[in-house]
Amino acid sequence: MPEIVIIAAVAKNRVIGKDNQLIWSIPEDMAHFKALTAGHPVIMGRKTWESLPPRFRPLPGRRNVVISRQADYAAPGAEVADSLENALKLASTAAETPHASGAETLFIIGGEQIYAQAMAVADRLEITEVELEPAGDAWFPEIPAVNWKKTSKIEGAGYAFVTYQRQ
Ligand SMILES: NC(=O)c1ccc[n+]([C@@H]2O[C@H](COP(=O)([O-])OP(=O)(O)OC[C@H]3O[C@@H](n4cnc5c(N)ncnc54)[C@H](OP(=O)(O)O)[C@@H]3O)[C@@H](O)[C@H]2O)c1
Repeated sequence: MPEIVIIAAVAKNRVIGKDNQLIWSIPEDMAHFKALTAGHPVIMGRKTWESLPPRFRPLPGRRNVVISRQADYAAPGAEVADSLENALKLASTAAETPHASGAETLFIIGGEQIYAQAMAVADRLEITEVELEPAGDAWFPEIPAVNWKKTSKIEGAGYAFVTYQRQ
């Protein structure tokens, strides 16, 4: 089984987005996201896919898998799956794509709906704690201490990179 990793940037009030966009711009976090996910499949909900700026769609150097219930949904440059379970299966199989390797670790990259479903199956959380309390309309779920152990915290200016492992 591949390792399943959730990666998210989360404000102090658990907000992750507003109007299908990120609310902040933290270059160090973008670099962190790129460094961790490079070469690995990334799995996202249809709304997060649509929120990516066209020049970053698909996210380069990674197999992009989009989850949608729409049977005919087209995501050029990405593969479409009809459930989280099928997205995980698809991403963990070899594929005739330039980015077929790296499937030993799969990244769940949002948004709210997909994070909520993936908490049950994730092995590791890579959370960027953002020192803001913005208004928003999308949230990251609570991280129950009974299930998750904080194993690393690296502080930056206005943010911290925090890793949790499933207990
Ligand atoms: N801060 C961060 O790290 C971060 C990261 C990513 C996203 N975000 C933010 O999160 C927000 C988007 O989150 P969201 O919850 O609105 O959308 P989302 O999770 O990205 O996508 C939701 C869509 O995924 C599909 N879906 C969900 N569950 C499914 C299932 N079980 N089976 C099949 N399809 C399923 C549906 O697509 P269809 O409607 O096509 O069926 C649904 O409308 C935005 O504000 C974005 O900026 C933040």
